[in-house]
Amino acid sequence: MATLVVNGADRSFDGDENMPLLWYLRDELGLTGTKFGCGVAQCGACTVHLDGTAVRACVTPMAAALGTAVTTIEGLSPDGNHPVQVAWRDLNVSQCGYCQPGQIMQAASLLKDNPNPSDEDIDSMMSGNICRCGTYPRIRAAIKQASNGGRR
Ligand code: FES
Ligand code: FES
Repeated sequence: MATLVVNGADRSFDGDENMPLLWYLRDELGLTGTKFGCGVAQCGACTVHLDGTAVRACVTPMAAALGTAVTTIEGLSPDGNHPVQVAWRDLNVSQCGYCQPGQIMQAASLLKDNPNPSDEDIDSMMSGNICRCGTYPRIRAAIKQASNGGRR
């Protein structure tokens, strides 16, 4: 039986290893915070972390996820107070909300690798995360706040 860790918990998998990780997270584990948007790595709604790196779960086969540690929006922080989540709430970033788990996971990955991103860094790293509601200015401001120790 193949195994992986999801949000700190040991999990097993014995299905088709070509199945997208997104299906496993949503349909088998019930972690529906990770969203399905395009299914072809073009929108970022399904972004999760694989060993700390942001990936698109819709195009990540289970074969690539087995043996790794997966983090979803449900496991980003124990209490919803990751600096990115705090900044998102402070600035009321979400509109309809559908893209936001992916945006937050992408932003958290960005800040882990680059704690003080420039506007250009943010635009570059977030460019693959689409928001139909156009919350981009608030997303950028929230990432700035999170990178600034929570100060606006
Ligand atoms: S659903 Fe995965 S990138 Fe759009
Ligand atoms: S908040 Fe609606 S799609 Fe981004």
